[in-house]
Amino acid sequence: MARRFLPVLVAMALIAVGVGLLLGEQHERRSRLEDRVVAMTGGDPQAGRAAIQKRPCGSCHTIPGISGAKASVGPPLTQFGGRGYIAGRLENTPDNLVRWLKDPHQVDPQSAMPRMGIGEKEARDMAAYLYTLT
Ligand code: HEC
Repeated sequence: MARRFLPVLVAMALIAVGVGLLLGEQHERRSRLEDRVVAMTGGDPQAGRAAIQKRPCGSCHTIPGISGAKASVGPPLTQFGGRGYIAGRLENTPDNLVRWLKDPHQVDPQSAMPRMGIGEKEARDMAAYLYTLT
């Protein structure tokens, strides 16, 4: 009786190992990306995600990973990590992004994106999260 189930058990075990390997690899790729954005920005992507969730960013932007962030007043921040320019004005570097987040009007007084009183640390965290969007 038990013998009849042996092939099924073996197949299930193999599938479990396969799924495990796949998840492990995904996890590793994810943490490599996290290490990279931390090194780039000096910020913490998890804290940045929480800060973006708390601030009104999602009322103007579509932002992956932020619940309710489906607006289209500003450009979607989807794949922001691969974007060449910030708001079409600044080269997309970590320092320029931090500068933009702290005060968009310092870059362009006419920008519809408001100054939100974001400090250096919060801006670095947000930048770290935005660079995980690839
Ligand atoms: C009132 C609407 C509004 C809010 C709130 C807002 N933004 Fe923006 N954002 C804009 C607009 C409009 C632009 C395009 C600016 C321009 O081209 O001058 C923009 C541009 C950007 C860009 C550059 C995007 C690109 O593709 O170049 C980033 C990054 C960004 N916003 C992040 C944020 C974050 C993070 C928050 C929250 C802390 C936020 N924004 C809050 C309206 C908003």
